[in-house]
Amino acid sequence: MSLVSIIKGRRGASGFGYASSAEEVTAGLDLRGKNILITGVGSGLGHESARVLAKRGAKIFAAARSVEKASEACRNFGAGAVPLACELSDPDSVRACVEHVRQLGEPLDAILCNAGIMALPKRELRCGQELQFFTNHVGHFLLVTGLVDQLLPTGRVVMLSSDAHTMAPKVGIQFDDLSFEKGYRPWTAYGQSKLANLLFARSLALRFEGSSRTANALHPGVIETKLGRHMNVVVRLLFPVAAAIAMKSIPQGAATQCYVTTHPSLAGVNGEYFFDCNVGKSSRNGRDTAMAARLWSVTEDIVAGL
Ligand SMILES: NC(=O)c1ccc[n+]([C@@H]2O[C@H](COP(=O)([O-])OP(=O)(O)OC[C@H]3O[C@@H](n4cnc5c(N)ncnc54)[C@H](OP(=O)(O)O)[C@@H]3O)[C@@H](O)[C@H]2O)c1
Repeated sequence: MSLVSIIKGRRGASGFGYASSAEEVTAGLDLRGKNILITGVGSGLGHESARVLAKRGAKIFAAARSVEKASEACRNFGAGAVPLACELSDPDSVRACVEHVRQLGEPLDAILCNAGIMALPKRELRCGQELQFFTNHVGHFLLVTGLVDQLLPTGRVVMLSSDAHTMAPKVGIQFDDLSFEKGYRPWTAYGQSKLANLLFARSLALRFEGSSRTANALHPGVIETKLGRHMNVVVRLLFPVAAAIAMKSIPQGAATQCYVTTHPSLAGVNGEYFFDCNVGKSSRNGRDTAMAARLWSVTEDIVAGL
């Protein structure tokens, strides 16, 4: 048996593993009456997660960059799905989305922060911040902090991080040059944004201590999706080969987030980092609560200035 097939076949304490699909990890769950907000529902892992959770009965609050994109995606999420415009790199759009959801007045069982962009080839800024950091982290920070009051007492916040958070600068979040003015590297900036997702979940988890709300982060695996659109041609050509050997399919890639968002066995499990549908260990920076606290305060300052 090859090493790859051993890894692919391995299951952890949860009973699920690398090869589990979103349908498998939610099999038998009755999510009727549950309201789940998901960002980035137009494609990839977000679309598959919304489809599967809707299939189990959840009402999906489906966020995409525009209401047209969200409505288009909602055709696959059952009759009750609510399309939401939420352009994460536009604070007005995120605030309007928060207002819209608050007006709807329905309590949320979970917020799945799935949307993201990766490895922009050139440094781009939005509101003075590097665009991946702004989209992946600041946009979700605005969304979640705006809706946290609407989370049920048992509500869950789930952040899509990545093992690429280890590609952040050695110091972790580069507070003295947050926007890479002194030198931009696409993967380092992506890594910083994914470390920010992880640290945000950590800070939120600390704030949730003593309650039954939870905040967790996860790495979904490596999956061929539109996320790789900025990768160079050679890497993209190699993708199908890599996919055949060691990449997950989209249904497998969506499994961990569906599991963390809904599985009853995770009630009260807070502040963890998951991969392959099991609790894992993030990097030292990913577990740094002082860095997480500083990031929270720096992000509050950024948001206050928007
Ligand atoms: N695929 C992997 O191997 C992998 C590995 C580790 C972590 N992840 C994480 O998994 C998450 C999902 O990625 P994916 O692989 O499913 O990629 P994807 O297919 O590109 O999906 C990302 C989604 O995010 C949306 N999005 C991007 N920028 C946005 C913005 N400014 N405002 C609102 N929505 C925005 C995209 O919408 P548009 O199509 O309109 O741009 C798209 O629907 C990401 O957070 C990613 O970092 C993925």
